[in-house]
Amino acid sequence: MYAVTGASGQLGRLVIERLLETLPASQVVAAVRDPGKVRHLAERGVVVREADYTRPETLSAALTGVDKLLLISSTEVSGRLPLHCAVIEAAHAAGVSLLAYTSMLHADISPARLAVEHLQTEAAIKASGVPAVILRNGWYTENHLMALPAALEHGAFVGAAKDGRFSSAARADYAAAAAVVLTSERQAGRTYELAADTAFTLADLATEVSRQSGKAVAYNDLPPEAYEGVLANAGIPADLAALLADADVAASRGALFDDGGELSKLIGRPTTSLETLVAAALPG
Ligand SMILES: NC(=O)c1ccc[n+]([C@@H]2O[C@H](COP(=O)([O-])OP(=O)(O)OC[C@H]3O[C@@H](n4cnc5c(N)ncnc54)[C@H](OP(=O)(O)O)[C@@H]3O)[C@@H](O)[C@H]2O)c1
Repeated sequence: MYAVTGASGQLGRLVIERLLETLPASQVVAAVRDPGKVRHLAERGVVVREADYTRPETLSAALTGVDKLLLISSTEVSGRLPLHCAVIEAAHAAGVSLLAYTSMLHADISPARLAVEHLQTEAAIKASGVPAVILRNGWYTENHLMALPAALEHGAFVGAAKDGRFSSAARADYAAAAAVVLTSERQAGRTYELAADTAFTLADLATEVSRQSGKAVAYNDLPPEAYEGVLANAGIPADLAALLADADVAASRGALFDDGGELSKLIGRPTTSLETLVAAALPG
């Protein structure tokens, strides 16, 4: 059986859909904190099991009979290492033949503070001896587009990335890659740097939004502390706002850029363009 943790989340749901294209639903396990959130999957025959990173007893039961597992990193951005370790231990106990983990682009050399727990998780996986493949995902383009309504309202995107290039890709592209890796042979021991075929700066993003919307939208680069304040004012928890501002600073130094083309190679098609994703995100 093939299990996906965090399967009620935006990435996890997409991975489950990709797996269902090639596997019978009875072979797919949606491992979730709240089974009530994925009733639609249970109705389609997907095996739904409770798997809460903070409750290890749920994890061993969830992984019974599981051969390949995708561990989607926790949203608890500070303190997620022990949560991930609980899943790694359960995977070891269950004897999975492959553990795939959603890490961060160039986690081994990234100056971004967000990379620290990813790298620690990668090390814990290695130390566990569980056969594993690391999916170092770049930024989601959808992250940038969360600011689209505010950008249209105020006529500007804000950030602290200067002219740093982002090789951000669609969640759907990362999900497709995860499904390919889970269902392919000889993946253990590999590390993939997953990023879009074409990179863009935040000024490029603003230009594309202006072009498609017909409204003037600029990119205003802010000092990191000011950008952190904007994020906090928008309701993002303080620790996450600080990490996101720090990630923009890292991006200004190239941390979220990659031109290796591994994502499109894995999924067998070009990555989804910024143009397409902006069009899908624009209202009406
Ligand atoms: N590369 C990027 O740009 C980027 C951006 C954002 C996030 N990420 C990472 O990618 C992951 C997936 O992103 P996403 O967009 O799918 O996030 P999401 O939509 O917020 O989904 C997060 C998933 O994690 C689950 N979860 C949270 N705490 C859990 C716990 N204690 N035990 C079990 N499951 C738990 C959530 O369950 P519930 O449905 O019950 O809440 C949900 O299914 C994130 O968790 C984060 O680590 C990457």
